[in-house]
Amino acid sequence: MRVCVIGGGYVGLVTGSCLAELGHNVVIIDIDEKKVLSINEGKPPLFEAGLEEIVKKHIGKNLSATCSFFPVKDAELTMICVGTPPDNSGNADLHYVRSASESVGRALRNQDKKHYVVVKSTVPPGTTDGLVRETVLSEAGRGNIAFGMNPEFLREGRAVWDFFHPDRIVIGCHEQDLFDCMKRLYQGIEAPVIQVLPTEAEMIKYVSNAFLATKISFSNEIGNICKRMGIDVYRVMEGVGLDRRIGKEFFNAGVGFGGSCFPKDVMALARFAEGMGVEPCILKSVLSVNEDQPGKMISLLEKRVGGLHGKRIAVLGLAFKDNTDDIRESRAIPVIRMLRERGAHVAAYDPLAIPAMKEVFPDIDYGTTPEAVLEGADACLILTEWPEFSRLDKEFDLMNNRVIIEGRRVLKTHGYEGICW
Ligand code: UDX
Repeated sequence: MRVCVIGGGYVGLVTGSCLAELGHNVVIIDIDEKKVLSINEGKPPLFEAGLEEIVKKHIGKNLSATCSFFPVKDAELTMICVGTPPDNSGNADLHYVRSASESVGRALRNQDKKHYVVVKSTVPPGTTDGLVRETVLSEAGRGNIAFGMNPEFLREGRAVWDFFHPDRIVIGCHEQDLFDCMKRLYQGIEAPVIQVLPTEAEMIKYVSNAFLATKISFSNEIGNICKRMGIDVYRVMEGVGLDRRIGKEFFNAGVGFGGSCFPKDVMALARFAEGMGVEPCILKSVLSVNEDQPGKMISLLEKRVGGLHGKRIAVLGLAFKDNTDDIRESRAIPVIRMLRERGAHVAAYDPLAIPAMKEVFPDIDYGTTPEAVLEGADACLILTEWPEFSRLDKEFDLMNNRVIIEGRRVLKTHGYEGICW
């Protein structure tokens, strides 16, 4: 199938490359010339396990990138995979979706051939049937165009694996032929496929992320209660999660969730609800528990080492989770900010995310190994679940004072304290 993917970011690049691996002819369209150049050179502009191999294998064959929307008119299907960042008030900012829709519509102007436009970006319910359909059709003039919504459920760092092993494929559409086209697109992937309306598909994406974020904040709140009582929240949640109605995933208590999806999507859903006069009590609490966890870590640290002024604090982990260089909404950001406000001297290490964090905090110390930051430290905070941290043990003896506060439950060493266990 000839497919155009609008947007060469995490979602677009992974989706486009994996569709090429499935045997389709894929053109990725992005307005950023540098990104296009680097994709065409076989060098993905972002780190994602397994992605480079796939891009290298198909680039120049059945995968290419361009800044021009010209290829849209020869494609059967266009997928919109542009960003929907939060605006100043936390609503989803749809201006990239609007401009992608305009360009797609212009490229399809006065075409008679059937074309499918499918939104993959996370968008508020009603966007596909409203903004996207209206914008594309008003630019296309006439046209034989059908619209659908197919949310992505890719985790960063594991996105390629997730693409080929999804729990489900959700296709939101009104027409059977669009549904059949999407089934052909994903042929070869084993997963239940469900057909719903576009608004339902849009909601499924928000609700999935909101529910996962709720599980995390719920277990953080339970962790905060357990901590007071000297109970291990991980043992509690293991016992709770064995109930099949509940499930054991996403109960890892700690310093909270970050990333480009959970904070933004929970906020956007809450704002969307408020806009309709529905009070989103649970969604707001999910966000406020998450906002409070970093402060709890600092209070614990102060309880252990006293005033932080002039103290050297080692921070292990800057990425919002392991296996990525992404620091968007990383819990390390508020933690480092609070440490600095209190006059602490911060020394930070991360296997991948130091260059990104240097943009936010250019003037803290960065070490190229955990040892380099632990040397002489008065305390250490663990902020990312990097598996390599689980091997740390003797390295902690380099500290002035062996105070280790764990935000992720990844350490195997002795004598540390968990933020909420
Ligand atoms: C998430 C969803 O999992 C994915 O389906 C969606 O498409 C995009 O958003 P991602 O943001 O890549 O993916 O990260 P994820 O692995 O879900 O972790 C998000 C955050 O939650 C991380 O900061 C992680 O450290 C934290 N987390 C996760 C916890 O604090 N506890 C947990 O039990 C699980």
